[in-house]
Amino acid sequence: MKRILVIGAGGQIGTELVPHLQKVYGHDNVIGADLKDEAVAKIGSYARAIKLDALDFNAFGQAVKDNNIDAIFNLVALLSATGEKNPELAWKINMGALVNSLTLAKEFKAAVFTPSSIGAFGVSTPHDKTPQDTVMRPDTIYGVCKVTGELLSDYYYHRFGVDARSVRFPGIISNGCLPGGGTTDYAVEVFYEILKTGHYTCPIPEDSYMDMLYMPDALNAVVQLMEADPSKLKHRNSFNITCMSFCPRELFAKIKERIPSATFDYNVDPVKAAIADSWPNMMDDSCAREEWGWNPQWHIDAMVDDMLKAIGAKLGK
Ligand code: SER
Repeated sequence: MKRILVIGAGGQIGTELVPHLQKVYGHDNVIGADLKDEAVAKIGSYARAIKLDALDFNAFGQAVKDNNIDAIFNLVALLSATGEKNPELAWKINMGALVNSLTLAKEFKAAVFTPSSIGAFGVSTPHDKTPQDTVMRPDTIYGVCKVTGELLSDYYYHRFGVDARSVRFPGIISNGCLPGGGTTDYAVEVFYEILKTGHYTCPIPEDSYMDMLYMPDALNAVVQLMEADPSKLKHRNSFNITCMSFCPRELFAKIKERIPSATFDYNVDPVKAAIADSWPNMMDDSCAREEWGWNPQWHIDAMVDDMLKAIGAKLGK
């Protein structure tokens, strides 16, 4: 069985990926690491947890060595909107965690999974059916880190044989831990606000399309890609994957069908609006489908039903 270390395990993806990986690889074979004490305590309630600063190379290396780690899942990141507030910090954190992951993977012969993002694309990228291999000149520091990370991961694979793989995640919708500081966060926040107050004020323009994915599909993508037969992979870092593309107006209409009293308005955040506008409307994910069998299941209606049910239960509604 593989021994896995998930860094940045206390975030939106990590809090659901760790339990998912435990089901696949065995409860004791997955360790969740995070920088923050509260996150470590929370992870510790369902998995082995360690407090780790992924930018501390020696501490990170010790954790990989002591636990015989075969695969590092690197979820450390400042997201797009937060990144614009402090670009130097975003570069330091996003690249620091990746460089350490790749260097340690080379030393300890471990695999590496790092999410890339729709944020790797920019204004000059074709926005519709965005091809797998296309112009990548992102307009955010988050995107600059993601493209650099893709290149560096492929470099470590070609130069040193590091088994590095990645997907370009769309906005991920989930009902566990809230995302924070992203441009796609509205598609999660809206469910909480509507169920709590009946009203949501959206920071993204009503007609701004972005790719989205429901968490169960995102979790499957990670395991499916990391388990894929390497001889079938023509790409590695990173694969376009998507399931849905919608704009706020369309998502809110779906919510209103189910909760007729829900009301929505807009107070557009210019930074987020510009970022959303620079990202694809809908990616072409045919390479992921062909090379490792990507086949997402959760489309908008099923996702909205499930989100309302899960968050409703959480809020006691
Ligand atoms: N969800 C991320 C963000 O909005 C995109 O990968 O920043």
